[in-house]
This record gives sequence, structure tokens and C-alpha cells, in this order.
Amino acid sequence: MMMIVREFRRMDLFRVHEIEKETFTNPYEKNIIQWLYDIGAGFLVAEEKNLILGYTIFSLKKENHGHIISIAVDKEFRNQNIGSTLLKTAINVLKKNDAKIICLEVESSKQIAVNFYNKFGFKKNEVLENYYGDGSDGISMYLKL
Ligand SMILES: CC(C)(COP(=O)(O)OP(=O)(O)OC[C@H]1O[C@@H](n2cnc3c(N)ncnc32)[C@H](O)[C@@H]1OP(=O)(O)O)[C@@H](O)C(=O)NCCC(=O)NCCS
Repeated sequence: MMMIVREFRRMDLFRVHEIEKETFTNPYEKNIIQWLYDIGAGFLVAEEKNLILGYTIFSLKKENHGHIISIAVDKEFRNQNIGSTLLKTAINVLKKNDAKIICLEVESSKQIAVNFYNKFGFKKNEVLENYYGDGSDGISMYLKL
């Protein structure tokens, strides 16, 4: 069976939160993920054989301004193009919604993620000192569409 990208459904919440928890040091709580969905954020999951392998949450924050809120792939399935497929789909959805720029923040120590975004043409904007709860720095990045 092939991997598919589809919209999030409520029944996916447990599994998405499981990936979120094992990926990030300051993971979103389940109710925040649910809330993002409820307020209409873009929310895509990558699924194969009924197993969710990764997801992305994004928003059209203000007019023509998209924002990648979160993207993660289960560590067992990384480096198999799943993150790229999710990000590509999110970028296309944002384009269709007339986004002219997409912004995001990433931990500056996460070189793999920074490479990942660079590959899609994201440029570094500025260093965000002490951006994360544990005191680590972030980098803001943007992609002009
Ligand atoms: C970032 C992440 C979503 C990428 O997803 P993925 O499915 O593993 O990535 P892909 O297989 O689509 O790889 C795309 C590009 O990312 C970079 N990349 C991915 N894995 C890498 C690795 N192990 N080492 C170096 N670069 C890597 C490369 O540029 C790669 O392009 P290439 O295959 O042409 O070299 C995934 O690594 C992840 O979940 N990381 C933890 C969470 C995170 O950091 N999220 C982003 C910050 S919010």
C-alpha cells in the first residue's frame, strides 16, 4: 500500500500526539492540538496501512501570510520523503489560499530540520534568543511564494 496524505480526523489525535511527544522536548498538549484543529488550522497526516507516520499543522495567520505550526515524522520513518510530501502539500494548500509568504520557527540546533526547510527554499530570517521553554534558541525562516 502507498503512503497517502489526507486531512486530519478527530480519531487521529492520540497517534498525532504520540509522535509529537516523542519528537519535541516541549510537545503540544493533546488539547492544544485539538484546539488548533477546531479553530480551523490546516492539518494533514501521512498514513500508510492505517498507521499515521507524520503530520503537519499550519495556518493562514493573517492575510496572505501562512505559518507552519508543526511538522513531524515518526522517527522510525524519517528520511523517506514523508516530511517533504507533507510540506509540499501544505505549501500547495497555502498557495491556493493566496498565501504570499510562509513563516516558521525552528530550534536552531536542529540542523536536519533547517536543511529540510532550506531544501524547499526557506531562508533564515533571524535568531530568536531563548525562544523555547527550555532556554534554547530558535531561528525564524520564511519562504516567498
Ligand atoms: C524534519 C522532518 C519533518 C523531515 O522529515 P523526513 O521525512 O525525515 O524528511 P525527508 O525524507 O522528506 O527529507 C527531506 C530533506 O530533509 C533533509 N534531511 C532529512 N533527513 C536528514 C538527515 N538524517 N540528515 C540530513 N538531512 C536530512 C535533507 O535535506 C532531505 O533532502 P534529501 O533527501 O534530498 O537529502 C523530520 O526529520 C522530523 O520529524 N524531525 C523532527 C521534528 C522536527 O525537527 N520538525 C521540524 C521543526 S518544527
